[in-house]
Amino acid sequence: MRISDTADVWWKTAVIYCLDVETFIDWSGDGTGDLAGLAQRIDYLEELGVTCIWLMPFYPTPDRDDGYDITDFYGVDQRLGTHGDLVEAIRTARDRGIRVIVDLVVNHTSDQHPWFVSARSSKNSPHRDWYTWVDEPPKDVHLAPVFPDAEDSAWEYDKKTKQYYLHRFYKYQPDLNVTNPLVRDEIAKVMGFWLSLGISGFRVDAVPFLLETVGEPSITLPDPHEYLRSLRAFLGRRTGDGILLGEVNLPHDQQRLFFGQDDGDELTMQFDFIAMQNLYLSMARRDAGPLAAALTARPPIPPDAQWATFVRNHDELTLDKLTDDEREEVFAAFGPDPKMQVYGRGLVRRLPPMLDGDPRRIRMAYSLLFSLPGTPVLFYGEEIGMGENLVDGTRSAVRTPMQWTSGANGGFSTADPDDLPAPVVTGGFSPDHVNVADQRNDPDSLLNFIRLLIARYRACPELGWGRLELIDQPHAQVLVHRMIWDDASLIALHNLAPDAVTVPFTLPDTDPECELTDLLQTGTTTPGKHGETEVELDGYGYRWLRITRPGDRRLR
Ligand code: GLC
Repeated sequence: MRISDTADVWWKTAVIYCLDVETFIDWSGDGTGDLAGLAQRIDYLEELGVTCIWLMPFYPTPDRDDGYDITDFYGVDQRLGTHGDLVEAIRTARDRGIRVIVDLVVNHTSDQHPWFVSARSSKNSPHRDWYTWVDEPPKDVHLAPVFPDAEDSAWEYDKKTKQYYLHRFYKYQPDLNVTNPLVRDEIAKVMGFWLSLGISGFRVDAVPFLLETVGEPSITLPDPHEYLRSLRAFLGRRTGDGILLGEVNLPHDQQRLFFGQDDGDELTMQFDFIAMQNLYLSMARRDAGPLAAALTARPPIPPDAQWATFVRNHDELTLDKLTDDEREEVFAAFGPDPKMQVYGRGLVRRLPPMLDGDPRRIRMAYSLLFSLPGTPVLFYGEEIGMGENLVDGTRSAVRTPMQWTSGANGGFSTADPDDLPAPVVTGGFSPDHVNVADQRNDPDSLLNFIRLLIARYRACPELGWGRLELIDQPHAQVLVHRMIWDDASLIALHNLAPDAVTVPFTLPDTDPECELTDLLQTGTTTPGKHGETEVELDGYGYRWLRITRPGDRRLR
């Protein structure tokens, strides 16, 4: 592989870190996290090894959906700072070799966005057709609302103009009408604007909903994917190396369509919600089967496209693609209390409390994340093992302030605790027990373990680029997978159960002189004559073994 492949197609081996400026670090002392603080913490992210920051929405917002309800696509919410502060943060990141992508939330606006305020004021408003209006909700197309706890329909009657508008999310988030060329032009301008400030692409919110057009012919696109292709082409013309990382929580075969045609002309990357959900099922059952099945069922994707792997994001940990029985198994194992569950489909917890804080299991889960084929995405605080606040059983449970120190407000802010965007986590995962400052100085901390995983992931391009092969062995609770790319090959072993095991397997086609070099601890294993190998795994143990040959010049 040429160096330029790994550098140009940067997203294939990136380590993405998602953060919400509002809860990351408050530099001004007013209680809200800010961009000036983010600029101060770029060095921390560099030390961690992150190569790309995904900024959650920082746009002006009434903040009823954590900033996903936007009133100005070109703005920066004044609570967080200014455009100047944002550009400083982006520039500082670029200086440390870190790219920045931002959320593109154009399926809908806030109902307080001036476009919607104008649209609902009169049927003759110039913005009326920027949204989707009908006299009667169509009977033949049933659109389920995404948040069934709050909404019972995706259509809301607007008294003044006596029509219904479409909103797939909350009723205060009217859907934009992308069949309107003026809306499409505006979305392109929004992208162009942020790209010109130095970002490297977008995490595209709610892609299937953005493309979905409903009802009468006037509000239906003949080929919605054509629209996604045009956005990708526009991005390519403006940047060359920008990405679209799409949120598409659909079965794998449907996800394939969103990568586009053979050469990949739609989304550059997509989150693998299916592998994520099956990872939890595997952990709950202590059986590698569901995860293995999900990974092998991934459809082939275009050469430069990529899966984004994750164990947690900022929303509910959705289990919507499991069967009802499977979901119940995961609920029983990791979130039996109803206040840990939401929308009948997900959990509001973070990983460490779900695993009872067991460091072996937590490390095994992250070792898996970083060794799976794809590009790993971390949600802020995962690197130190933050927990959640279960107070109101909503998605906000995991949107708590970052825990920097054991001091007041976890070092997030010097303000009065009542002024923070959310209360700091209390109990066993509070900043007294979980914080960056303590873990930085502790060589055995989770933070340093994650740093090690990131460093090894970045040094093994076969993980991001490679072909997956599952290796046969006798234990249901163990996953042995091999990643192969060019002449590089890595074998990862993970034990999902508490008892130690010896794992025999065969590597038939390896060169007789090869050794397996352990990348996470000292030691090598030498396969036998016909490639027979035996590896010991502790309870919840994990090993990363790279195939090396005498004279190999790769760093070990
Ligand atoms: C996406 C976001 C979620 C938000 C929703 C509506 O699913 O991840 O946080 O509530 O879109 O914008």
